[in-house]
Amino acid sequence: MRKIAVMTSGGDAPGMNAAVRAVVRSGLHYGFEVYGVYDGYEGLTNGKIRKLERGDVGGIISSGGTVLGSARFPEFKEIEVRKRAVKQLKDLGIEGLVVIGGDGTYRGAQALTKMGINCVGLPGTIDNDISSTDYTIGFFTALQTIVESIDKLRDTSLSHQRCSVVEVMGRHCGDLALYAGISAGSEFIITPETKYNRELTMTAIKQSHNNGRRHALVVVTENMLNVLDFAKDIEKTTGYETRATILGHVQRGGNPVGFDRVLATEMGEYAVELLKDYKGGRAVGLKGMDLVDYDINYALNKKREIPNKRYGLVGRLS
Ligand code: F6P
Repeated sequence: MRKIAVMTSGGDAPGMNAAVRAVVRSGLHYGFEVYGVYDGYEGLTNGKIRKLERGDVGGIISSGGTVLGSARFPEFKEIEVRKRAVKQLKDLGIEGLVVIGGDGTYRGAQALTKMGINCVGLPGTIDNDISSTDYTIGFFTALQTIVESIDKLRDTSLSHQRCSVVEVMGRHCGDLALYAGISAGSEFIITPETKYNRELTMTAIKQSHNNGRRHALVVVTENMLNVLDFAKDIEKTTGYETRATILGHVQRGGNPVGFDRVLATEMGEYAVELLKDYKGGRAVGLKGMDLVDYDINYALNKKREIPNKRYGLVGRLS
């Protein structure tokens, strides 16, 4: 194999650039020609592919977003669309592809592998919802953004003796809410893993009010509740004046924290080493302190482990 390519796909995540940089520079180190695919699977299908040199990825390790661009492209599920993408790669003689993204990105890589392109998936998403890795690239940066925002909310919440409801991203995974809840000392979290139990929630908030606390904090994973209605319900039920904040896409931006840069860099290099050994159809993950790789079919079917012990910390220590 002499030519490989790298792309980012799905929702962007801080640290994707660090991974792209690592793939390019590591690839060049091992004697590959390295190509960048722009705008995810849409760009791949439409031939937005360009050869990259060392200097093209200079200065990007510290920046958020992705210099390659990203896109949601559901059309990639169609075989005729994928055939066009494979042709683009074959016409350029590219045999290996590193894809950086979430679940949907991995499914694209799985399909391309079946069509003869050696793909390696790197977990790049703020959601931390990929079961084949302990942590995804971007998770800790988004967490930091959330924690800093909640710290600011606490200031005003304390001044006014209010309850704050904060909606965070995560799609169908509660890790951002869980880790933010622990970091910010929240009274309660509501996630897809905990489900929403109105009685328990109101009791915890009432208790905090009765204990004379000047503020309360509830962190909620998106798609669980309408947080504006929820805030009204809390106010009516508990007597705690309540405001809701939806953090939104600010959680996806910003310079990656050190951990995300290290994880992305190591994973990028690991992916190139797999391709060097002609290993495709793999998903790279972090397991404890080590990087590992799994068959991408296995990775996509693996059940997520729920950090139950961590869930126990929320509320009990607030
Ligand atoms: O997967 C990352 C993520 O930010 C999720 O947390 C969120 O549900 C989704 O993407 C939002 O996607 P979009 O930016 O396409 O609206």
